[in-house]
Formats: sequence, structure tokens, C-alpha cells
Amino acid sequence: MDTLFTNIKELLQTRSASEVKVMGKSMRELPHIKNAFLRIRGENILDFGAMADLVIQKSDAVVDVTGKIILPSWCDSHSHVVYAGDRSQEFVDRLNGLSYEEIAANGGGILNSAQTLQNTSESALYEQSIQRVNELIKLGTGALEIKSGYGLSTEAELKMLRVIKTIREKSPLKVKATFLGAHAIPEKYKTNKSAYIDLIINTMLPEVHHQELADFIDVFCEKGYFSLEDTEQILEAATRYGLVPKIHVNQFNAFGGVGLGVKYKALSVDHLEVFNEEDLKVLKNSDTIPVALPGCSFFLGIPYTPARKLIDAGLPLAIASDMNPGSAPSGNMNFIVSLACIKMKMTPEEAINAATLNGAYAMDISKQYGSISKGKKANLIITKEMTSYHQIPYLYGNTPIHKVMLHGKFVDSYFI
Ligand code: NIG
Ligand code: FE
Repeated sequence: MDTLFTNIKELLQTRSASEVKVMGKSMRELPHIKNAFLRIRGENILDFGAMADLVIQKSDAVVDVTGKIILPSWCDSHSHVVYAGDRSQEFVDRLNGLSYEEIAANGGGILNSAQTLQNTSESALYEQSIQRVNELIKLGTGALEIKSGYGLSTEAELKMLRVIKTIREKSPLKVKATFLGAHAIPEKYKTNKSAYIDLIINTMLPEVHHQELADFIDVFCEKGYFSLEDTEQILEAATRYGLVPKIHVNQFNAFGGVGLGVKYKALSVDHLEVFNEEDLKVLKNSDTIPVALPGCSFFLGIPYTPARKLIDAGLPLAIASDMNPGSAPSGNMNFIVSLACIKMKMTPEEAINAATLNGAYAMDISKQYGSISKGKKANLIITKEMTSYHQIPYLYGNTPIHKVMLHGKFVDSYFI
């Protein structure tokens, strides 16, 4: 099936497929073609260019998108979209004065979600999760990383990972799976954390590996959760099983998690609301990409990752939703792009680079996703009519989406 888009007002993020991430000053550039065409064959991008250079060829479908913009669909490299129930009561508790940390210390937070998930069947968990995923697709997300970490028992962690696998098989979205058994210390192990770490290393990890349920390993490296030593033990074991680290660090405290991630060749280090000079130095000499999660800062009222500091120092930056029931219930990447501009002072070009190509890099899929490049997958957002792509972050809270194409097919056809 060949589809030809014509009269595209602006075709964004046009690059050679060999560019796998953008960093520093280059993030200010968003290569684009005005009045463009784009030709799709099967799942892939076949060709693109200026309308003036369009050579007439037979196509199965010609779609005139006069006034509209086309860009790669969002690559959301950090989510916890598989969860059971919700935590809206904790949201209200926070509005009434309790802090996120206080709620967690009282058995709420991640442990609350774990209890609900353990009591939810695999099919119910899948049904709840796929509904969220379908909403995200309509909002323009075309690739999504999904973490376990609300199971916190071998059985429940494997259940979560199987649900992620089913989403990967059934959904048109590109999915990457991360094993986050080390998300919190379960109640049962409260006074014996090392026994839980043993369980992760000696029981969960071998099963996850054997059943091929994860691409990446994650640890919540934070005070009151997993220390540097705990994190190192888990990363050491997981990398022996071939799992690449993508870790939660520096959300509330900076104590060397970034350096540890770099030491274990983490693909990404995520959160970084608290960030120091030492962190900057180690990242500069690495291939690890920092990932900011502005939705979490917005929802919890905590500091934003200092994007300007990172980018101005020459680093790459990705932005992701962190969608989860406790600290970031929305997975709307259009809003994340707005927040990155409004709250982190990123330019529209930087924010779009961070949410497309760099997001893809943070999932190790940027050779196939994240830009308009010949041979890459045809995962596209076709916007409503707009004056320029600046309107994507400017019209915060609105959806810029007219249509979405994933792997060469309009998503409407998956939902009807
Ligand atoms: O990335 N920080 C750790 N994990 C999630 C929040 C988990 C929760 O509150 O359920 C995060 O913000
Ligand atoms: Fe997270």
C-alpha cells in the first residue's frame, strides 16, 4: 500500500536516518521542508521533498493535507502506563496538605498501587491498561516504553510484564519493556531490604530473562528506596542478563546515581529534578541520555529538571511523560512539550527534538523511529491546520492532532 501526502504546510524533523540523537546547540535546529510531499510504502517512509520536486507516480491513496503540518509521532521513553485502579484519593490528600513522601511513608504511593495490582487479574489489568494506551495513541504517541514495578512480588511483576508483552503484540504502537522490580520495598521486606534485593536478583531476574519479558532494567535510586549500593548490585546482575539500564535518579536527592548509571552504560538517566555539577561532568563524557519528566514536576509541584543547564552544556535531552497513577497521571505528550517550553524554557525546536528523535534514542529505537527519514517507520502526526509548529506548545492543553498514522496505517482503522 502506497500513500502519498501532498501540500504539507511544514514537514518537520526531516533528517538522514543515520542521525540518532541531537545534542546541545543542535537541539535548536528542527530541519523542515515547507510545502512538502511525503510518500509511504507499506510500514516505511519511502521518499519526501518539496512539492515542486514531486514526480508523479501511481499511489493507492493521495491525501491532500493543505494547511496541516506532519511530524514524527511522539516517542515517550518513560511510562508506567500498566497499573490497576487509580490514586485519586492520594491526589486529594495532597491537596489537603500531605506531601507525596508522607503519603508513601504511610503505606500509600507505590505500595498502594502494588496492593491493588496484586488483587487484579491479568485480563482486567490488560483491559485497564490498553484503554490508556489507546488514548495515548490518539494523542500522538507512536512509541512507548512501559515499566513494571507495581507488582513487587515475582508473580505480580511477571503478570505486569506479560501485560506489557500483550500490549506490544496487539497494539499498533512500538513498545519497549522495562523491568522495575526495584521500585519500592514491599511491606513484607520492610525490615529486610536485602532479602527483597536477593529475590529480585536470584528469582525475578532469571525468570524475566528466561521468558524474554524485558529490554531494560530500572531501579528507583532514591533515599528511602534503593541506595547506590543496592542499585549497583541490581545493575550488575541485570547487565549480566543483557538488560540495559534506564534508571530513576535524582528525583528528590542527588547522591551519585547519575555517575553509577554512566558506569553501567545506562541508556538513560531519568528525572534529574535535583542536579549538580558532578552529574553534569559525568554525563558529558558518556552516551547516556538525560530524560526530563516535566509532568511529574507539574503534578507534584517539585522543581523542574534544569533543561537549560543541560542543553547549554552541550548535552542531549529527551522529555517523557512518566505516566503513572501517583506522580504523573497524564501521558499527553502534547502537554509535555508545552510544559518543556513554558516551565523549562526550552524552545519549540528543542522540545520537539526532545520528544521525537531523542525520545527514540532513550528507547534505543532511533534508527527506526523519531524522524522523517527514508526507510524509517511511518509513525506520523498530521496536525490540525495551524499557522506554524510553534502552535503545538503554544496552544497548551489543546490537542494539535488531526490524524495519526502508525506503521503506515491511519490509527482510526485500528479503533473502528
Ligand atoms: O517516576 N519515582 C518513582 N516512580 C514514579 C512514581 C511512582 C508512583 O508514585 O506511583 C515516578 O515518578
Ligand atoms: Fe517513573
